[in-house]
Amino acid sequence: MGARVIAVVNQKGGAGKTTVAMLLAGALGEAGHRVLVADADPQNTARHWAGQGVGFPAEVEDYSGEEGKLHKRLRKRLDEFDYVVIDSPPAASAPVTGSALRLAHLALVPIVPSPLDIWASARIREAIEAARMKNPELHARIVLNQLQPHTLMSREVIALLPEFGIPLLSASLRSRTVYRECAAGGTTVSALGSRARMAQMELDFLRRRVLALLRRLGNH
Ligand SMILES: Nc1ncnc2c1ncn2[C@@H]1O[C@H](COP(=O)(O)OP(=O)(O)OP(=O)(O)O)[C@@H](O)[C@H]1O
Ligand SMILES: [Mg+2]
Repeated sequence: MGARVIAVVNQKGGAGKTTVAMLLAGALGEAGHRVLVADADPQNTARHWAGQGVGFPAEVEDYSGEEGKLHKRLRKRLDEFDYVVIDSPPAASAPVTGSALRLAHLALVPIVPSPLDIWASARIREAIEAARMKNPELHARIVLNQLQPHTLMSREVIALLPEFGIPLLSASLRSRTVYRECAAGGTTVSALGSRARMAQMELDFLRRRVLALLRRLGNH
């Protein structure tokens, strides 16, 4: 069977798309899966992350010039991998985002729990709904990112999420300096050793929830 495809998408810039895509891809690679990160963002931050020569455990390739043909190009590669993770630009209506959503089994939408971020994310829901016309199997989950769990703001924003119309993944990422260090050093969380143990546990849980969801959604 071909790779399962996860598109990490949001209209909002800086919501954590690249961070979620790369941390998840790194965790899947370290668990022994064959993983491709398709960097569909012209900023190429995923490529920069992995291109620091320290052996990132997933292939990261530039697909940012593919525009609406991304799904056709990637479809040809699905037999080579277990998982394809697409990192997309902050543009819900860009052809490359639509193309990613057309191929994906699961769209992950990172959202920082703040009202501004939720308002700015509304258009991605429309893009996901539009993609379902051609890809009825597409499922979507919000991933809370940069969570500061015990704050009133987090609680208030989380209470608003049911109105957003995309279900919440039962795993989230807290705001942690070690995640920035991973990007800066081109590594995964586990490469940071025991001082990143809480982050490793958090990410392991995220990986397991995503895999369990993909299994539930279909046939893997
Ligand atoms: N959970 C986190 N903890 C700490 N820092 C984070 C976390 N998630 C993201 N960041 C930081 O927030 C910034 C934005 O994250 P990132 O680049 O992943 O977002 P993005 O959605 O890919 O942005 P863009 O829309 O520009 O592609 C980066 O500096 C990143 O290191
Ligand atoms: Mg990015």
